[in-house]
Amino acid sequence: MSKFITIAVDGYSSSGKSSMAKELARAIGYNYIDSGAMYRAVALYCLNKGYIAGDGVIDTAALESDIDNIAITFSLNPATGRSDTCLNGENVESEIRSMRVSNCVSEVAALPFVRRALVKQQQAMRGRSGIVMDGRDIGTVVFPDAEMKVFVNASARVRAERRHKELIAKGQQVSFDEVLRNVEERDRLDTTRADSPLRCADDAEVLNNDNMTIEEQNRWMLDTFHRKLAEATAAADAQR
Ligand code: DC
Repeated sequence: MSKFITIAVDGYSSSGKSSMAKELARAIGYNYIDSGAMYRAVALYCLNKGYIAGDGVIDTAALESDIDNIAITFSLNPATGRSDTCLNGENVESEIRSMRVSNCVSEVAALPFVRRALVKQQQAMRGRSGIVMDGRDIGTVVFPDAEMKVFVNASARVRAERRHKELIAKGQQVSFDEVLRNVEERDRLDTTRADSPLRCADDAEVLNNDNMTIEEQNRWMLDTFHRKLAEATAAADAQR
């Protein structure tokens, strides 16, 4: 019987972890979940509901009393073959990637009641088949028992260049400096928050992809997967 493993991919914003995680899931036939998209959907919900004031202050009481009304699901987009994020049934895939959402998502993601609600949903997504989930706390909090953990890093400048290119390609008018500032600020918020800060799990494989091509990264992921799967299968056999 073939064994399925759980794969946790964590790392800094715009480190390319989502593309790598998505490609690995496609190559090995596993489900892929972008947990960052879930935090982005909650941030968009707050903006739409007016829970975030002009100065960026979040009405946490209003959000907390409304948190159970936020349903985040993923649905396959037949045009792209990708899984799109839906907020209460509405496709918000493009909206959640805007700078408007990027600028407030880290504050929303730092709220303990938001994390509790989303971690619960994320843990429930691990079914009987294999899963690849990417985020900031997947290997440390969501699936601390994941058989494969990857921590992706790259310099802030390289990450900002990638993100800037992506946004320009999507037609968004944004300067490189603004993107770099956003990347650095999100690093600061993600690593210093009190609840589940971004950190590398002790048993994670670390990948710095500053100087790697996409093909090299995908090959590294696939090689790591085969090694981890063999280790997990051997461990399961030894227990029988
Ligand atoms: O990966 P991303 O940039 O789309 O993530 C958006 C934000 O959500 C980012 O500020 C970090 C936060 N996040 C988190 O706190 N925990 C996760 N598991 C995933 C994302």
